[in-house]
Amino acid sequence: MESKNLYHCENLEFNYFSGTQIIPALRGVSTEVNLGDFVCLSGPSGSGKSTLLNLLGMIEPVQKGVMTFKNLRISELSEAQKNHLRRHELGFIFQFFHLMPTLSAYENVEFFLLRQGITKLEREQRVKQALESVGIWDFRGQKPLELSGGQRQRVALARALAKKPSVIIADEPTASLDQKTGREVVDILLELNQKQGVTIVLASHDPMVIERSPRKLSLRDGKLT
Ligand SMILES: Nc1ncnc2c1ncn2[C@@H]1O[C@H](COP(=O)(O)OP(=O)(O)O)[C@@H](O)[C@H]1O
Ligand SMILES: [Mg+2]
Repeated sequence: MESKNLYHCENLEFNYFSGTQIIPALRGVSTEVNLGDFVCLSGPSGSGKSTLLNLLGMIEPVQKGVMTFKNLRISELSEAQKNHLRRHELGFIFQFFHLMPTLSAYENVEFFLLRQGITKLEREQRVKQALESVGIWDFRGQKPLELSGGQRQRVALARALAKKPSVIIADEPTASLDQKTGREVVDILLELNQKQGVTIVLASHDPMVIERSPRKLSLRDGKLT
């Protein structure tokens, strides 16, 4: 039987180095994330939310402590292996969407798949399914500037979903949206989690998001409280 465990984190510590200064961002974080979880990391600005997501996203290295992803010990992987996992297993969404302005919604979603060498037919199926699952297929021909903030975030989400990732990592996905639109984005995330079993780890300090998240972790000064 396949293991339910996706991430295992044990005593993670992380420092930033700025000139001669050492800035501690994580001071011993231990937790687990299982497949099918919907976890919200909350905490005030500077508490280490983005840093922890960056470790989970293999964007920052494990400096101290242990992190495993699907039972692989991350500190033992090469850059190429981590790149491969990032590309195939992890989907990211961000506060400011990070879409490519010259590409249509459709092309933004297709872009990663092109790089993965997925066949045309499969690409078409995946892009359509992803855009439909976030309710934005009808806007596929429009470029990011021709879409509202909420629509842009849906395109970003479709782009992440089209990879069929093991987890979606979302850093403040509603922070640049108004309340109503933010609520709609959370509706979609909850639906993807409940109906398709998509695993979601997000960071947010938005009370609406925290309240509606099935599992909550709270960070303060680099520690889970
Ligand atoms: N690139 C960086 N260089 C130096 N310090 C950083 C950097 N990114 C974050 N920090 C510091 O690390 C701590 C945690 O930041 P962060 O993980 O961004 O918190 P949050 O996402 O909860 O606001 C803060 O003290 C922040 O100032
Ligand atoms: Mg942050």
